[in-house]
Amino acid sequence: METNDGVAATGDAAADSPVPPAPESPAFAEVPEEVHGPLPVAELHLHIEGTLEPGLIFDLAERNGIQLPYADLDELRSRYEFTDLQSFLDLYYANMAVLRTKQDFADMTRAYLARAALAGVRHAEIMLDPQAHLSRGVALETCVNGVASVLAVSEEEFGISTLLIAAFLRDLTEDAALEVLEKLLAMNAPIAGIGLDSAEVGNPPAKFERLFARAKDAGLRRTAHAGEEGPPSYIIDALDLLDVERIDHGIRCMEDPDLVERLVQELTPLTVCPLSNVRLRAVDTLADHPLPAMLAAGLNVSVNSDDPAYFGGYVDDNFAQLKSVIGLSEFDCVRMAANSIRSSFASEERKSELLAELAASGH
Ligand code: HPA
Ligand code: ZN
Repeated sequence: METNDGVAATGDAAADSPVPPAPESPAFAEVPEEVHGPLPVAELHLHIEGTLEPGLIFDLAERNGIQLPYADLDELRSRYEFTDLQSFLDLYYANMAVLRTKQDFADMTRAYLARAALAGVRHAEIMLDPQAHLSRGVALETCVNGVASVLAVSEEEFGISTLLIAAFLRDLTEDAALEVLEKLLAMNAPIAGIGLDSAEVGNPPAKFERLFARAKDAGLRRTAHAGEEGPPSYIIDALDLLDVERIDHGIRCMEDPDLVERLVQELTPLTVCPLSNVRLRAVDTLADHPLPAMLAAGLNVSVNSDDPAYFGGYVDDNFAQLKSVIGLSEFDCVRMAANSIRSSFASEERKSELLAELAASGH
C-alpha cells in the first residue's frame, strides 16, 4: 500500500493540536463585538411604518398594482434628504400608500422583527399610526390585525417580546383621536398603550388632555413625543396634563435646567433617537448630540431607531455610530440598555429576565 506524502501529514497534525492562549490575548471585556453578540436591548421608540424599506415599498407597490411616483429605487432613495420633521413626514405618509392589506402590514412587521433580532432587540414596543391608514380608506382591523398577527408570534419566531402602541396624529383634532380610540377599545384591539406623534410644533399636549385621560381610564399605558422640535414646556405639559409615563425624544429638556432636575428626580424615561435627530436636523451632527450631556446629568435615556428605514439605521447602527463618532463608552451603552429594559411596559418578570440576560451577555 502506498503512503501519502509525510510532510503534508505532519503539517496537518501540527495544525490540529490545541494551542494555549498567547499571554498577550485581550481581556474578555476587550473581545470584539462579534464574540459577545449584539447588546441586548428593549426598543421603546419605533414607528412600524418607519421600518418600510425602499425595496419593500417597491415590492408592495407591485403586488398591489400601485404606480409609485419614483422611476426606481435610486430615485426613491434620493428623496431621503430631510430639512426638518415635516419634510420627513411628507414622504413617510406618502410611502404608506403601498400598505393596503393585512398581509402588507404583516410583511412589514415581520421584516422589522427579523432585522431587529440581528440588532440585539429582545423586547420592542411598536407604535402604529392607525389614523394615517384610516384616512386612506384602510380599515382599522386591517392595519391593527395585520401588525398584531405577527406580534402574537414574535417571541417564538424572533425571540422578541412585543407590545403594540396606538399613536395618534397630533396635527389632527382631539375628537378624531377620541373616535379612533373608542373604536380600538370596542374591537378589543391588542394595544398596551397610546402615543402621540406627527407634527409637534403648534400641536401642544394640552390639545389631547381628554384623549389621555380616557386612555388612562381604560387601563392603557401612555407615552408622547415631546421636545423633539417643540419647546421644553411641551415636555412639562406632557407630564402634567397627559400623565405620560415616558417622553419620546425629549432632547430639548436640556434647555431647561429645572426640568432636567425634575426628570432626573422622577427617573422619567426619555427614548432618544440619535440618528433620527441628525437626519431631521434637530441637531447639526452626531458630534453635537446632547446624549453625552444627558447621561452626565443622570437622565434616564435609552437609544432607539424611530424610523430606521428613513434615518440610516437600526438600533445597533445607532449604538455603533455613537461609539465611533462620539466615543460613547461600553459602560454607557450597557447603562442605556439597562435603562431601556427598566423603562419598558413589559411585565416585571420579563424585565428581570432581560436584565439577567444583559448581565450575562459579556458586554
Ligand atoms: N416625530 C414625530 N412623528 C413621527 C416621527 C417622529 O420622529 N416618526 C414618525 N412619526
Ligand atoms: Zn418617533
